Amino acid sequence: MAKSSHATWGGRFTAGPAELMLEFSESVSFDRRLAPFDIAGSKAHAAMLAQVGLLTAKERDAIRSGLDAIGAEIAAGKFTWSTKLEDVHMNIEQALTQRVPAAAKLHTARSRNDQVATDMRLFFKHACAALGEKILGAQRALLAAAAANRDVLLPGYTHLQRAQPVFLAHHFFAWMEMLERDRARFATVAAHANWCPLGSGAIAGTTLPIDREFTAKALGFVDAKGRPQVTQNSMDTVADRDLFIEFAAACALFGVHASRIAEDLIIWSSTEFKFVELPDAFCTGSSLMPQKKNPDSCELLRGKSARLHGNLSTLLTLAKGLPLTYNRDLQEDKPPVFDSFDQTAICADVLAGTLAGMEIVRERCAAAVRDPALLATDLADYLVLKGVPFREAHHAVGAVVRLAEKNHVELNQLPTDEVKKIHPAFGADWLEVFDLARALAKRAGTGMPGPAQVARQFARWRKTLR
Ligand code: ARG
Repeated sequence: MAKSSHATWGGRFTAGPAELMLEFSESVSFDRRLAPFDIAGSKAHAAMLAQVGLLTAKERDAIRSGLDAIGAEIAAGKFTWSTKLEDVHMNIEQALTQRVPAAAKLHTARSRNDQVATDMRLFFKHACAALGEKILGAQRALLAAAAANRDVLLPGYTHLQRAQPVFLAHHFFAWMEMLERDRARFATVAAHANWCPLGSGAIAGTTLPIDREFTAKALGFVDAKGRPQVTQNSMDTVADRDLFIEFAAACALFGVHASRIAEDLIIWSSTEFKFVELPDAFCTGSSLMPQKKNPDSCELLRGKSARLHGNLSTLLTLAKGLPLTYNRDLQEDKPPVFDSFDQTAICADVLAGTLAGMEIVRERCAAAVRDPALLATDLADYLVLKGVPFREAHHAVGAVVRLAEKNHVELNQLPTDEVKKIHPAFGADWLEVFDLARALAKRAGTGMPGPAQVARQFARWRKTLR
């Protein structure tokens, strides 16, 4: 029995594993999604074995077409997976061996340890590219929303208290920067993944005359100049799970960003703010209260981010106490990685859909940004330009704010002579400060929310997201 179902390692065993152990230790239920990468790795490995004379050309070709046939069956959902065979690697190898006798030679100079490391590096390269595209989709939706509301001003907040006026596009471009860093981070993780583990064997390579560079090239583990990149220490290669952690961290940080964007939208969509009307397609109603329209897509973006953090935490904890090199604990590295990938992918799509469908409520933004208190800092700057030290100016404007509050009037409704009594540097022109367009135009430096800078950022993002 040990021989029939565990031909890959059953030689030294007299009895097979208990049913319970099979159920406990199988990973094929989740690692079967690595099949396309596992097959690509095996084809490249077979090609290399033929190249160095460990397989004949005929054997290599038989293995290759057998793997292609299995790949097609898997893609069509016709392949029979067996938990008895533990994992994706043994399922494919056994199926191949049943069809192609030469497949008994395929595992020459290879271990599942370098094999799974290779499969995962191929997965990470694919996953990072896919997530980069999805985040790009969200960024494009954001750019379109910024363009459609280019002239809208609204208050910027600190401590969730009205602070200073900004263009809505400037707020959107803050989100854009967050998403751009995420995209760059996934590109970095992909670059870190771009080193081929094959040839590291179980822990100490092989005595056979293999060609690691050949396999690396065949699998696309190459630098910008097409030179093969192979990992440099066999023990580290099979023990290392840094990429898993980096990938999960990139997902978790994207989750933080999506969650913060979602939180802004949740606040803005409340009746109290109503700066934005979220798309019906991404909201739900209440089963009890007929008037309700809840911002569920945003709330779930916020909620999913917790799950992404959890996955990162799982991986850090999994790796931290392990002695070198491979330990079976490491099989548990895949569910959190796959979950992070799947959830990040759908979060990016949902974010894009929510951003694409939202409507800005212009009157509400305009009403809020009309609050002259938003320009209190500009009033202090006005005094500074009259030669008043900033601390003194800040104090004087504070007194003006207090007086307005006491008189129950807006800041710019106070009589000029009252204001002059607070500080003699206030002149007849002090009310000009409250011209919003003028106030924005003065914010002209790089990174500031003035119209010239916002125009520059529009040009930049149009170019970057093309
Ligand atoms: N299914 C295993 C994993 O995901 C593959 C590597 C198994 N290696 C071993 N020495 N048992 O980690």
